[in-house]
Amino acid sequence: MTQRKQIIAGNWKMNGTLSETANLINGLKQKIKSDTLRRNVILCPPFTSLILARELTKGTPFKLGAQNVHFEGKGAFTGEVSAEMLKETGCEYVIIGHSERRAYFHEDDALINKKVKKALGTELQVIMCVGETLEQREKGITNDVVRTQTDGSLHNVSEKELEKIIIAYEPVWAIGTGKTATPDQANEVHEYIRSLISDSYSPAAAERLIIQYGGSVKADNAGELLSMSHIDGALVGGSSLKADDFAGIVLA
Ligand code: PGA
Repeated sequence: MTQRKQIIAGNWKMNGTLSETANLINGLKQKIKSDTLRRNVILCPPFTSLILARELTKGTPFKLGAQNVHFEGKGAFTGEVSAEMLKETGCEYVIIGHSERRAYFHEDDALINKKVKKALGTELQVIMCVGETLEQREKGITNDVVRTQTDGSLHNVSEKELEKIIIAYEPVWAIGTGKTATPDQANEVHEYIRSLISDSYSPAAAERLIIQYGGSVKADNAGELLSMSHIDGALVGGSSLKADDFAGIVLA
Protein backbone atom coordinates (compact mmCIF):
# COMPACT_ATOMS: atom_id res chain seq x y z
CA MET A 1 0.00 0.00 0.00
CA THR A 2 1.39 3.40 -0.92
CA GLN A 3 1.76 5.91 1.85
CA ARG A 4 -0.17 9.04 0.99
CA LYS A 5 1.25 12.13 2.66
CA GLN A 6 -1.62 14.09 4.14
CA ILE A 7 -2.30 17.62 2.94
CA ILE A 8 -4.04 20.32 4.96
CA ALA A 9 -5.31 23.31 2.99
CA GLY A 10 -6.70 26.52 4.44
CA ASN A 11 -9.44 28.12 2.36
CA TRP A 12 -9.64 31.67 3.68
CA LYS A 13 -12.63 32.47 1.44
CA MET A 14 -13.32 36.24 1.27
CA ASN A 15 -11.29 36.98 4.38
CA GLY A 16 -7.86 38.50 4.76
CA THR A 17 -6.91 42.14 4.29
CA LEU A 18 -3.18 42.65 3.86
CA SER A 19 -2.62 43.26 7.56
CA GLU A 20 -4.70 40.21 8.49
CA THR A 21 -2.74 38.15 5.99
CA ALA A 22 0.55 39.22 7.53
CA ASN A 23 -0.64 38.52 11.08
CA LEU A 24 -1.97 35.11 10.20
CA ILE A 25 1.05 33.94 8.24
CA ASN A 26 3.48 35.25 10.83
CA GLY A 27 1.51 33.46 13.52
CA LEU A 28 1.57 30.20 11.54
CA LYS A 29 5.32 30.48 11.00
CA GLN A 30 5.82 30.56 14.75
CA LYS A 31 3.60 27.60 15.44
CA ILE A 32 4.38 25.29 12.53
CA LYS A 33 8.03 24.38 12.07
CA SER A 34 9.14 22.56 8.96
CA ASP A 35 11.48 20.09 10.68
CA THR A 36 8.68 18.43 12.63
CA LEU A 37 5.98 18.66 9.99
CA ARG A 38 4.36 15.36 8.98
CA ARG A 39 1.78 16.90 6.66
CA ASN A 40 1.91 19.27 3.70
CA VAL A 41 0.27 22.65 4.16
CA ILE A 42 -1.38 24.88 1.54
CA LEU A 43 -2.68 28.38 2.22
CA CYS A 44 -5.40 29.78 -0.07
CA PRO A 45 -5.83 33.48 0.65
CA PRO A 46 -7.86 35.82 -1.56
CA PHE A 47 -6.23 36.96 -4.84
CA THR A 48 -5.30 40.34 -3.40
CA SER A 49 -3.16 38.74 -0.68
CA LEU A 50 -1.28 36.27 -2.86
CA ILE A 51 1.79 38.37 -3.59
CA LEU A 52 2.22 39.33 0.04
CA ALA A 53 1.66 35.71 1.03
CA ARG A 54 4.35 34.62 -1.43
CA GLU A 55 6.85 36.97 0.21
CA LEU A 56 5.90 35.91 3.73
CA THR A 57 6.00 32.18 3.02
CA LYS A 58 9.45 32.17 1.39
CA GLY A 59 11.61 29.63 3.18
CA THR A 60 8.62 28.06 4.93
CA PRO A 61 6.94 24.73 4.18
CA PHE A 62 3.71 26.52 3.20
CA LYS A 63 2.55 26.30 -0.40
CA LEU A 64 0.10 28.75 -1.95
CA GLY A 65 -3.20 28.18 -3.65
CA ALA A 66 -5.96 30.35 -5.12
CA GLN A 67 -9.68 29.90 -4.63
CA ASN A 68 -10.85 30.19 -8.23
CA VAL A 69 -9.61 30.58 -11.79
CA HIS A 70 -11.08 31.34 -15.21
CA PHE A 71 -11.04 28.73 -17.96
CA GLU A 72 -9.73 31.05 -20.68
CA GLY A 73 -6.15 32.25 -20.93
CA LYS A 74 -6.96 35.95 -21.30
CA GLY A 75 -9.39 38.38 -22.80
CA ALA A 76 -12.62 40.23 -22.20
CA PHE A 77 -13.77 38.56 -19.00
CA THR A 78 -14.23 41.46 -16.62
CA GLY A 79 -13.42 40.57 -13.04
CA GLU A 80 -11.79 37.23 -13.79
CA VAL A 81 -8.26 35.96 -13.14
CA SER A 82 -6.32 33.55 -15.36
CA ALA A 83 -4.27 30.49 -14.45
CA GLU A 84 -1.16 32.16 -15.85
CA MET A 85 -1.69 35.14 -13.53
CA LEU A 86 -2.02 32.80 -10.57
CA LYS A 87 1.22 31.03 -11.46
CA GLU A 88 2.94 34.39 -11.54
CA THR A 89 1.83 35.20 -8.00
CA GLY A 90 3.41 32.02 -6.71
CA CYS A 91 0.37 29.74 -6.64
CA GLU A 92 0.96 26.04 -7.09
CA TYR A 93 -2.64 25.05 -6.41
CA VAL A 94 -6.14 26.25 -7.12
CA ILE A 95 -9.44 25.27 -5.53
CA ILE A 96 -12.06 24.53 -8.20
CA GLY A 97 -15.74 23.70 -7.82
CA HIS A 98 -16.19 24.73 -4.21
CA SER A 99 -19.85 24.36 -3.19
CA GLU A 100 -20.10 28.11 -2.63
CA ARG A 101 -19.08 28.67 -6.26
CA ARG A 102 -21.51 25.98 -7.38
CA ALA A 103 -24.37 27.50 -5.35
CA TYR A 104 -23.83 31.28 -5.55
CA PHE A 105 -22.14 31.53 -8.94
CA HIS A 106 -24.00 28.71 -10.67
CA GLU A 107 -20.90 26.74 -11.59
CA ASP A 108 -21.82 23.35 -13.00
CA ASP A 109 -19.70 20.29 -13.70
CA ALA A 110 -19.09 21.28 -17.33
CA LEU A 111 -17.73 24.67 -16.34
CA ILE A 112 -15.71 23.17 -13.51
CA ASN A 113 -14.24 20.68 -15.98
CA LYS A 114 -13.10 23.53 -18.25
CA LYS A 115 -11.40 25.22 -15.31
CA VAL A 116 -9.76 21.96 -14.24
CA LYS A 117 -8.38 21.41 -17.75
CA LYS A 118 -7.09 24.99 -17.94
CA ALA A 119 -5.42 24.78 -14.54
CA LEU A 120 -3.74 21.46 -15.40
CA GLY A 121 -2.60 22.85 -18.76
CA THR A 122 -0.95 25.73 -16.88
CA GLU A 123 0.72 23.37 -14.42
CA LEU A 124 -1.37 24.31 -11.46
CA GLN A 125 -2.45 21.50 -9.18
CA VAL A 126 -6.14 21.34 -8.47
CA ILE A 127 -8.18 20.87 -5.32
CA MET A 128 -11.47 19.80 -6.84
CA CYS A 129 -14.49 19.87 -4.53
CA VAL A 130 -17.51 17.58 -4.52
CA GLY A 131 -20.25 17.02 -1.98
CA GLU A 132 -23.97 16.60 -1.42
CA THR A 133 -26.54 18.90 0.18
CA LEU A 134 -28.51 17.89 3.26
CA GLU A 135 -31.58 17.24 1.11
CA GLN A 136 -29.59 14.94 -1.17
CA ARG A 137 -28.14 13.06 1.81
CA GLU A 138 -31.58 12.61 3.31
CA LYS A 139 -32.88 11.29 -0.01
CA GLY A 140 -30.09 8.71 0.05
CA ILE A 141 -28.47 9.94 -3.17
CA THR A 142 -25.10 11.03 -1.77
CA ASN A 143 -23.13 8.55 -3.87
CA ASP A 144 -25.02 9.45 -7.05
CA VAL A 145 -24.34 13.13 -6.54
CA VAL A 146 -20.68 12.58 -5.79
CA ARG A 147 -20.32 10.27 -8.80
CA THR A 148 -21.94 12.74 -11.19
CA GLN A 149 -19.78 15.60 -9.90
CA THR A 150 -16.58 13.56 -10.02
CA ASP A 151 -17.20 12.15 -13.50
CA GLY A 152 -18.32 15.49 -14.91
CA SER A 153 -15.49 17.50 -13.41
CA LEU A 154 -12.84 15.00 -14.50
CA HIS A 155 -14.11 14.57 -18.07
CA ASN A 156 -11.14 14.03 -20.41
CA VAL A 157 -8.62 14.24 -17.57
CA SER A 158 -5.90 11.65 -18.20
CA GLU A 159 -4.45 9.34 -15.57
CA LYS A 160 -1.20 11.30 -15.75
CA GLU A 161 -3.09 14.57 -15.16
CA LEU A 162 -5.01 13.00 -12.30
CA GLU A 163 -1.75 12.90 -10.33
CA LYS A 164 -2.07 16.70 -10.08
CA ILE A 165 -5.56 16.55 -8.63
CA ILE A 166 -6.69 16.39 -5.03
CA ILE A 167 -10.36 15.67 -4.50
CA ALA A 168 -11.98 17.41 -1.54
CA TYR A 169 -15.13 15.77 -0.25
CA GLU A 170 -17.13 18.52 1.38
CA PRO A 171 -20.71 17.71 2.35
CA VAL A 172 -22.51 21.03 1.90
CA TRP A 173 -24.45 20.56 5.14
CA ALA A 174 -21.18 20.46 7.09
CA ILE A 175 -19.61 23.63 5.66
CA GLY A 176 -19.54 26.50 8.10
CA THR A 177 -22.36 24.93 10.12
CA GLY A 178 -20.41 23.36 12.96
CA LYS A 179 -21.92 20.00 11.91
CA THR A 180 -19.04 17.73 10.95
CA ALA A 181 -19.60 14.46 9.16
CA THR A 182 -18.64 11.67 11.54
CA PRO A 183 -15.30 10.05 10.71
CA ASP A 184 -17.19 6.96 9.52
CA GLN A 185 -19.62 8.95 7.36
CA ALA A 186 -16.75 10.81 5.72
CA ASN A 187 -14.56 7.75 5.31
CA GLU A 188 -17.40 5.87 3.63
CA VAL A 189 -17.78 8.53 0.92
CA HIS A 190 -14.00 8.80 0.51
CA GLU A 191 -13.82 5.06 -0.03
CA TYR A 192 -16.59 5.34 -2.60
CA ILE A 193 -14.74 8.14 -4.44
CA ARG A 194 -11.60 5.99 -4.46
CA SER A 195 -13.58 3.12 -5.97
CA LEU A 196 -14.89 5.43 -8.71
CA ILE A 197 -11.33 6.42 -9.57
CA SER A 198 -10.25 2.81 -9.50
CA ASP A 199 -13.00 1.92 -11.99
CA SER A 200 -12.51 4.86 -14.34
CA TYR A 201 -8.68 5.00 -14.15
CA SER A 202 -6.86 2.22 -12.34
CA PRO A 203 -6.38 0.79 -8.85
CA ALA A 204 -2.93 2.43 -8.76
CA ALA A 205 -4.39 5.85 -9.58
CA ALA A 206 -7.00 5.37 -6.86
CA GLU A 207 -4.35 4.35 -4.36
CA ARG A 208 -2.32 7.50 -5.09
CA LEU A 209 -5.25 9.93 -5.00
CA ILE A 210 -5.33 12.38 -2.10
CA ILE A 211 -8.89 12.84 -0.84
CA GLN A 212 -9.38 15.65 1.65
CA TYR A 213 -12.37 16.04 3.91
CA GLY A 214 -13.88 19.50 4.41
CA GLY A 215 -16.72 20.79 6.56
CA SER A 216 -16.30 22.21 10.06
CA VAL A 217 -12.89 20.65 10.61
CA LYS A 218 -11.45 21.95 13.88
CA ALA A 219 -8.43 21.22 16.03
CA ASP A 220 -10.52 19.01 18.30
CA ASN A 221 -12.04 16.80 15.59
CA ALA A 222 -9.15 16.77 13.11
CA GLY A 223 -7.20 13.98 14.79
CA GLU A 224 -10.04 11.52 14.56
CA LEU A 225 -10.96 12.42 10.98
CA LEU A 226 -7.34 12.27 9.81
CA SER A 227 -6.85 8.84 11.37
CA MET A 228 -9.37 7.28 8.96
CA SER A 229 -7.92 5.08 6.25
CA HIS A 230 -9.33 7.01 3.26
CA ILE A 231 -9.03 10.55 4.65
CA ASP A 232 -5.79 12.06 3.38
CA GLY A 233 -6.09 15.60 4.63
CA ALA A 234 -8.49 18.43 5.21
CA LEU A 235 -9.81 21.51 3.44
CA VAL A 236 -10.41 23.96 6.23
CA GLY A 237 -12.50 27.13 6.08
CA GLY A 238 -13.36 28.94 9.31
CA SER A 239 -10.63 27.32 11.37
CA SER A 240 -7.94 28.35 8.89
CA LEU A 241 -8.36 31.99 9.86
CA LYS A 242 -6.74 31.79 13.29
CA ALA A 243 -3.14 30.66 13.63
CA ASP A 244 -3.85 28.66 16.80
CA ASP A 245 -6.79 26.83 15.29
CA PHE A 246 -5.13 26.04 11.98
CA ALA A 247 -1.85 24.98 13.58
CA GLY A 248 -3.90 22.74 15.87
CA ILE A 249 -5.30 20.95 12.82
CA VAL A 250 -1.99 20.73 10.96
CA LEU A 251 -0.29 19.27 14.03
CA ALA A 252 -3.25 17.12 15.20
P1 PGA B 1 -15.55 25.25 7.05
O1 PGA B 1 -15.40 25.40 5.47
O2 PGA B 1 -14.29 24.62 7.56
O3 PGA B 1 -15.73 26.66 7.56
O4 PGA B 1 -16.75 24.42 7.30
C1 PGA B 1 -14.79 24.40 4.70
C2 PGA B 1 -14.76 24.82 3.25
O5 PGA B 1 -15.71 25.48 2.80
O6 PGA B 1 -13.80 24.51 2.51
